[in-house]
Amino acid sequence: MTVGQEAESARNEIAELKTALAREERIASALREVGNALGTTLDLDDLLELILGRLTDLLEADRCTLYLLDQAKAELVSRIVIGEQVRSIRVRVGHGIAGTVAKTGKAIRLRDAYTDSRFEPEWDLFTGYRTKSMLAAPLKNHMGRTIGVIQVLNKTTGEEFTAEDEAILSALSTQAAVAIDNSRLFLSLIQKNHQLLSTKEKLERRVADLQLLNELERAMARAESLEELARAALSALAKACQAQGATLLLGEEDTGDLFQYVYDSERPETVDRFGVKAGEGLLAHAMSSGDTIELAEATLDPHFHPRVEGRFPFAVQSALVTPLSSEQIFGAMGLFSKRGGRPFEEEDRALMTLVGANVSTAVRLFRASVQRERGQRLTTIGRLLSQVIHDFKTPMTVISGHVQMMTSVDDPAVRAEHAASVLKQMEALTAMQREVLDFARGERRIFVRRVFLSRFFEDIKKQVEQFAEGQPIRIEFDIDTKVTARFDEMRVARAVQNLARNAVEAMGQKGGVLRIYARMEKDDLLIGVSDTGPGIPEEVQGRMFQSFVTAGKQGGTGLGLAIVKKIVQEHQGTIVVRSTPEGATFEMRFPQGVKIESAVPERGLVADKPPA
Ligand SMILES: Nc1ncnc2c1ncn2[C@@H]1O[C@H](COP(=O)(O)OP(=O)(O)OP(=O)(O)O)[C@@H](O)[C@H]1O
Ligand SMILES: [Mg+2]
Repeated sequence: MTVGQEAESARNEIAELKTALAREERIASALREVGNALGTTLDLDDLLELILGRLTDLLEADRCTLYLLDQAKAELVSRIVIGEQVRSIRVRVGHGIAGTVAKTGKAIRLRDAYTDSRFEPEWDLFTGYRTKSMLAAPLKNHMGRTIGVIQVLNKTTGEEFTAEDEAILSALSTQAAVAIDNSRLFLSLIQKNHQLLSTKEKLERRVADLQLLNELERAMARAESLEELARAALSALAKACQAQGATLLLGEEDTGDLFQYVYDSERPETVDRFGVKAGEGLLAHAMSSGDTIELAEATLDPHFHPRVEGRFPFAVQSALVTPLSSEQIFGAMGLFSKRGGRPFEEEDRALMTLVGANVSTAVRLFRASVQRERGQRLTTIGRLLSQVIHDFKTPMTVISGHVQMMTSVDDPAVRAEHAASVLKQMEALTAMQREVLDFARGERRIFVRRVFLSRFFEDIKKQVEQFAEGQPIRIEFDIDTKVTARFDEMRVARAVQNLARNAVEAMGQKGGVLRIYARMEKDDLLIGVSDTGPGIPEEVQGRMFQSFVTAGKQGGTGLGLAIVKKIVQEHQGTIVVRSTPEGATFEMRFPQGVKIESAVPERGLVADKPPA
């Protein structure tokens, strides 16, 4: 390659990376935007339009259709068609592509819809539209039940939709399902409310209630913990019913343990949370008996408990307590001491029922989202584990080399040297193990420190020599030893080892020259690994940084380069490859001018708050 061509190819690489980055940013911003809208908008059509609009953009599709499932008629009904006017389309479940997705709950991706016998071209014939590529995925609610189908047509920038498109669709359709669930709940509350309206006077009261519910709904949607959720519900209810205090009792999902949240209107910023036993206090009694309790003097009731209701700093008088249920009773709610020394009234009772229904759903949605988060974290842990296990290879090889050598020497000093090397590798193994465990706790650390290149590459040299042993390979190091640079030592060592290992594997028994070099270039630390092997096989070119892409070797898992890329990205760096039939060169650049957070919490993976 001439210098001109090299520059050209580097420019192309940069352009490609920029495009990829811009795309990732668009996805992240779309998810953020939809997430925000979910917390603030209750208008289903607005939300769905936003989601479908973003989807059409992100997937570079020509149009995007959402079908909702009409369970009673076993039909899919389309509510919105982007790109043209709104029309309604009905599709029988089990028929056509969308109908099949609704029936099986599995996504379908087609390069040309006309080659699939399930495709029904009537709609095309009717409208003159020509469907070609297609991606259809089920819309599942938090219980995993299919409630609709999203169908995306005709990729404008390529032949067909990709697996990545499918992943984006699945992420956004989860958001859509939550929106639909929330808004259905809201509508059902409005309906319930209408039934309660009998007089004009009450109507006014109900409008206020509805506003209250609306505000409550938003506050609960924003809550990041059950405490916040409880505080939102209890403060709203206490205020609306003019009560001095309010409490909520909830059974834990896994253990069934009971926790009570206590709100005192004099201290509106917080709720108290504490454990109670079954049957202890008025709420626990309402929960076990299923009865609503109304009292003028709560302290006289045999179920009044000093440790529970006695906690209120005011003298408890009247009380109104009802069990909370969705499919079964899962808690209770109570109001205490109506202002003015009065008992609670019929209207308070009605309002409590409404707020109770709202709380049931909010708790259910909150728990479902915690579960989803946990699931996501487990998936990531799985991925991280597979990477760590991949990188165990290097320390393991080195350890077994030293142990073998130890068995053949008697000199205690030499043995001690081997033992020290083994211990050093054990440290590397422990660090990798810690990486996974930290993540499981919701932390993600990268330790950026100033490192002397001379010492750093001394260690790498020993390891590389060890895994190249037995092959006719000359190893050259060209390191600017005066340099110090800032990076995460353990991680960058893993990256260099992975590149060197690939180079050694590529040269195989034929051997050749492995060259590792490092120097500063402007503000960047440049580390390169080059070999004189056969170059990157054509079949993996352009996608070798993806996980599980491997070619031309036995026992390759295809994780090495994916790990290298991740490490480089964590340092906000870049990596480029040059390959010819005479060899391959990988160059990593670590910018030194940028500030890298030493502890980066993974987005969306906040650890559970410990119980108070
Ligand atoms: N220096 C190189 N020369 C030629 N081909 C290479 C070189 N480095 C990587 N490749 C090609 O890229 C593919 C992906 O490399 P990667 O390290 O990700 O996975 P792997 O080496 O196949 O498996 P693993 O590293 O998980 O054991 C390799 O299978 C190989 O075909
Ligand atoms: Mg490899």
